[in-house]
Amino acid sequence: MIYSRIIGTGSYLPARVLTNYDLEKMVDTSHDWIFTRSGIVERHFAADGELTSDLALHASRKAIEAAGIQADEIDMIIVATTSPEMEFPSTACILQDKLGIKNGGPAFDMQAVCGGFVYALNTADLYIRGGQAKTVLVVGAEVLSRLLDWNDRTTCVLFGDGAGAVVLRASGEPGIVAAKLHADGQHRDLLKADPKIAMDGKAVFKFAVNVLSSVVDELLEDQKMSGSDIDWMVPHQANIRIIEATTKKLGLDMANVVVTVANHGNTSAASIPLALDTAVRDGRIKAGQNIVMEAIGGGFTWGAVLIKW
Ligand code: ACO
Repeated sequence: MIYSRIIGTGSYLPARVLTNYDLEKMVDTSHDWIFTRSGIVERHFAADGELTSDLALHASRKAIEAAGIQADEIDMIIVATTSPEMEFPSTACILQDKLGIKNGGPAFDMQAVCGGFVYALNTADLYIRGGQAKTVLVVGAEVLSRLLDWNDRTTCVLFGDGAGAVVLRASGEPGIVAAKLHADGQHRDLLKADPKIAMDGKAVFKFAVNVLSSVVDELLEDQKMSGSDIDWMVPHQANIRIIEATTKKLGLDMANVVVTVANHGNTSAASIPLALDTAVRDGRIKAGQNIVMEAIGGGFTWGAVLIKW
């Protein structure tokens, strides 16, 4: 049986940091409003001329180094992004070139907004299990600061830029154990960027808590596991209240949840690999542990992945 295992993680945050106090000078808002509603304290914004593929490149190099492989061993690249630097070519093709990979392996972007990383991870896993790829680079990279409507204070204070990456490799042992993905396009108007981000915050909140808890339940039931079997939950970092409400609904303890939203804001497809890399590098995530990732994004798209680390 072929499985896929994560053999390296990496992440990158642009140098420029904007605190809530900085935003107070830009829009009619306050640190207290932002912090109590979202848990966000600060976010990183890309510099002028710093592109989605640049963020992806920094995160990927770190993941490749952590994996202890040469870039050219990567035979497939998937970049989850909803903020590519151009319509085409894909960020994945640009990244392949910037990494100097010349082996001709496939490279493509995955658009499932904040659900993008779990969609991409599941896709990479299926390619590896099917024998069509051996070493896959999966990246979540976003420059959401270019999609913000600075006249809409209900959204512009919530998002940030960043990138995270993992290297997946074929293995005889799991690895990625299972995944569940869903979408429901009926709700596409509740959260969209056309071309700037607009959202019905309350409706998104309610929907998110319901489907995130139900997709994790679905995943665990399928594996005949319960919440107490989860060592770490690595959720999409949209909002601390969504994370806390979902955790409560699942009967989990916040002590087992990796939270980075305070310092990153909502980085869409980049938020899970950014949080994952943080918890791997600080030693919280260890070999043999059960890790669950869950995310929801515009569409809506949502899903969860179970990993034996
Ligand atoms: N600063 C100060 N006041 C604000 C701001 C702001 N940035 N934005 C809105 N307000 C005001 C509103 O105008 C309103 O004032 P009013 O009562 O005088 O009309 C008041 O604050 C309350 O606004 P609400 O929209 O009711 O605030 P709510 O408590 O619902 O919080 C929020 C808004 C944070 C967006 C919330 O609905 C939420 O957390 N939604 C979840 C959505 C989310 O996190 N999305 C992330 C993207 S989705 C994803 O990643 C899947």
